[in-house]
Amino acid sequence: MICRAPDPLEGHPAPPSAGAPASGAPLLATRLRPLTAADLGPLARAQRRHFPGNVIGRFGDPLHTTYLRSFLGTPTATAVVAESVDGPVGYALGVLGTVEHRARVRRRYGVALLVAAVLAVVRHPRLGTGMLRRRWALRSAARASSGPAAPVDTRRLAVLSHVAVEAPARGTGTAARLVDDFLDRARRARCDAAVLAVRRDNTRALAFYEKHGWRRVAERSTFDGRDLCLYEREL
Ligand SMILES: CC(C)(COP(=O)(O)OP(=O)(O)OC[C@H]1O[C@@H](n2cnc3c(N)ncnc32)[C@H](O)[C@@H]1OP(=O)(O)O)[C@@H](O)C(=O)NCCC(=O)NCCS
Repeated sequence: MICRAPDPLEGHPAPPSAGAPASGAPLLATRLRPLTAADLGPLARAQRRHFPGNVIGRFGDPLHTTYLRSFLGTPTATAVVAESVDGPVGYALGVLGTVEHRARVRRRYGVALLVAAVLAVVRHPRLGTGMLRRRWALRSAARASSGPAAPVDTRRLAVLSHVAVEAPARGTGTAARLVDDFLDRARRARCDAAVLAVRRDNTRALAFYEKHGWRRVAERSTFDGRDLCLYEREL
């Protein structure tokens, strides 16, 4: 049993042994299933715990759950929960073809996302103006240092957007199963390569991806102040 909280995706304290390989029992009991609408609230709260710096989470539930909903019920994205006998212990969200997914999200959720974003900025004005200021500064810096234009990437890309496993289920192979499942779906969607971004200070995640064959290809800073390492894998 790895998860005893009433709302398991919402989290629970790490046991003293968190991080050490666990016994085989939880791994055997863990299965993967599709994310459903009922998971969205607990997932949003779990994401805010795992990724406290992510700007979408800091804007609050309505915007965050609208964004997460855009991963549901579409061939252009994948959203999977790892579940033990006691409930969810991890999840993976990804995009299977960035161009199609962006077009679909704009078509199906564009208005809902815009309304939720405007309301979020009204509710969190300092966060909103700070974010716009940083975005503007990054754009200006990029324009000022305009070297030769970067070549356009014409590959069909899959993006592993978020993966997280609750502390008691780490070191059990659950994260590897979630990532392998994402890679299988990306291959079936005929993507050429998979990409992901990890914060430069997230040493455990960096070690995890490098151990599983991801190649670091670049680093960059984001408009919301994060330093990221970009990773890639051919499919
Ligand atoms: C990143 C994550 C999904 C990896 O899953 P995991 O079950 O912890 O993965 P592993 O047990 O295979 O550990 C990964 C590697 O991290 C390293 N590691 C283990 N414990 C560590 C610790 N306490 N500190 C730093 N590195 C550690 C080891 O190199 C380990 O590889 P090893 O087994 O060969 O020693 C999981 O830690 C997690 O959910 N973290 C929070 C959310 C997150 O950061 N997601 C990734 C960003 S998209």
